[in-house]
Amino acid sequence: MAATPAPAVPTIALNNGVEIPQLGFGVYQIPPDQTAEATRTALDIGYRHIDTAQMYGNEAEVGQAVRESGIDRSEIFVTSKLNNNRLERDDILRSFDQGLSDMGFDYLDLFLIHWPLPAASDYVARWKALEEIYASGRAKAIGVSNFQPHHLRNLFGASDVRPAVNQVEIHPFLVQDELRAFDADHEIVTEAWSPIGQGQVLGDPVISRIAQQLGRSPAQVTLRWHIQRGDVIFPKSSSKDRMAENFALFDFELDQEQMTAITALDRAGRIGPDPDQFNWIPS
Ligand SMILES: NC(=O)c1ccc[n+]([C@@H]2O[C@H](COP(=O)([O-])OP(=O)(O)OC[C@H]3O[C@@H](n4cnc5c(N)ncnc54)[C@H](OP(=O)(O)O)[C@@H]3O)[C@@H](O)[C@H]2O)c1
Repeated sequence: MAATPAPAVPTIALNNGVEIPQLGFGVYQIPPDQTAEATRTALDIGYRHIDTAQMYGNEAEVGQAVRESGIDRSEIFVTSKLNNNRLERDDILRSFDQGLSDMGFDYLDLFLIHWPLPAASDYVARWKALEEIYASGRAKAIGVSNFQPHHLRNLFGASDVRPAVNQVEIHPFLVQDELRAFDADHEIVTEAWSPIGQGQVLGDPVISRIAQQLGRSPAQVTLRWHIQRGDVIFPKSSSKDRMAENFALFDFELDQEQMTAITALDRAGRIGPDPDQFNWIPS
């Protein structure tokens, strides 16, 4: 089947010149046996950026959908992340190669350290292994996820390669403006995970009021807020209609009052773990 032409999703230049689509599709919690179908549907809608991870157990199915889509590999941006149980250099390189082979790719667009695990691992040593992967050309860019400024500073002191992105939890109940400013000051693009707070922000009265004003859904208003702040997002949905809804963000705008009102919903409302406390290593 011929691929649908991608609607105009803006791209953002990473600090090494690689362009990343600002809107993608996340596959966390999509079971492996449903991931190829979900990814195919997302690609049909027009998504050209997929966010997976070794930990999600569905890299192979993402790869399958991309390969079978009929869309040139170079037109689809694929991110994966290092599992928390890959701590040693050789194991990191092996697991990366295994992921590529499972996906049927010869490169990834972006590869991230998933969590810093500050009390359980040497994340600087793990970063050095990612640098080797980057130098080999098998990842076009490398970055981190769930890093706080003090974790990033430790990398800056030990490495010449700046992370291209920092993927962290951000939504209207956890706006993370200090961390975003730190990233921006160091030429690191911020990616916002759980951009609609896994659905938790959608019933908020302020978001509902703005959705009514604009004739858009609460999810579209929230995702558009991220887009106008300049972060990269990849909402997850298992429904074709909601995937399409989440993709329709580029024909309306929030005004300054609406942007400010959503940012004011901040309440330190983390859904996920605190990166400074999280040291979980799966067996
Ligand atoms: N780096 C990390 O540590 C980390 C952690 C978490 C997530 N992530 C990444 O971020 C991506 C997105 O985060 P997330 O999946 O946690 O949360 P999310 O995208 O904020 O929310 C997903 C939830 O919202 C529902 N939903 C989606 N679109 C909707 C809409 N238009 N209206 C109403 N409900 C809607 C989905 O249900 P349905 O599926 O039923 O539509 C699902 O329950 C993940 O897939 C993953 O790629 C990264």
